[in-house]
Amino acid sequence: MMNVILPRLRSVLTELTGHRAGAAGADNGRADDRAPILLANNESPFGPLPSVVAAIAEAAGEVNRYPDYGVAGLTADIAAWLGVDTDQVAVGCGSVGVLQMLFQAAGEPGTDILYAWRSFDAYPTLAKLAGLRPVTVPLREERHDLAAMADAITPDTRIVVVCNPNNPTGTTVRDEELKGFLDRVPRECLVVLDEAYREYVRDPGVPDGLGLLADHPNVVVVRTFSKAFGLAGLRVGYLVGHPSVAAEIRKTRLPYTVSHLAQVAARASLRAHDELMARVDQTIAERERIRAAMLAHGVPVAPSEANFVWAPLKERTAAFAAACAAENVHVRAYPGDGVRVTIGLPEAGDAFLKLIGAL
Ligand SMILES: Cc1ncc(COP(=O)(O)O)c(C=O)c1O
Repeated sequence: MMNVILPRLRSVLTELTGHRAGAAGADNGRADDRAPILLANNESPFGPLPSVVAAIAEAAGEVNRYPDYGVAGLTADIAAWLGVDTDQVAVGCGSVGVLQMLFQAAGEPGTDILYAWRSFDAYPTLAKLAGLRPVTVPLREERHDLAAMADAITPDTRIVVVCNPNNPTGTTVRDEELKGFLDRVPRECLVVLDEAYREYVRDPGVPDGLGLLADHPNVVVVRTFSKAFGLAGLRVGYLVGHPSVAAEIRKTRLPYTVSHLAQVAARASLRAHDELMARVDQTIAERERIRAAMLAHGVPVAPSEANFVWAPLKERTAAFAAACAAENVHVRAYPGDGVRVTIGLPEAGDAFLKLIGAL
């Protein structure tokens, strides 16, 4: 056979493994024999509200046209909802899309990006693709070690990411420690506060990143419609920051990557905010039930302020995840470290707890 000569691609690609998503499928959390129980991806177990489905269905007849280039209506709606100025908001294709925009905008190739580890596993991929050098600081007792992170900042550090609550541990950084940390970060260095799970936070000691923006023009808060708003399949995320920063970041959005259906669905979801937040309350109640049951079984689950819990099962991780998969319960395993379990509906939680009981 002839030798095929392939084009030369960037060497950084050899370092990337591709994103490892969990099992996919739409079971909406039902535990039955046919559908897998999907607790691997931190999605909402609830399907979209009827009002949101209706808005999407109506907009489906308009998709021969390009979406609104500037995402103007949704940007204004987000700003009005949050009580910030419209020019402080930039929307992107999921918050992953927003992170990519930020890393490309602030990450001069060859400079450093700093984040805790373990944290959201898209950070290394996006960082390397942007030509950044990832510098990681280990979690301490499953939490960000902000003192060590501040010590690790050098003149080469262009971006610092703080994931609050942290994926996959569900742990948080608190108000005073975050403010103390921000005081130590040079003003030229961009701080990305990834608050993808903000709506699930109930601990009043956990700061709302929006409250930090006035004193810290180098901070941007990143949030998403994928989790509490239940629109993971449509890809809408956004950032809030200083107007000049947001304006520059908006330039890096690929044209039309926030689709028409995504914009319409996100706007309809904001109109249904109260109904959606009632679902978030249910998820939080379920989170506390699952955590209490796991603690009762002797699994040392850290308090979680997100829509998942973290079980540091260490060397038992892979075997436990395999036992779950054999029962059609799909959790996210980090071999040698732990298992992250998304909070779904109570039936799904019962199926999971049965497996924890057998651990
Ligand atoms: C911490 C964190 N940030 C961002 C995201 C990305 O979400 P999306 O791109 O769907 O907005 C996730 C998804 O799991 C996450 O855990």
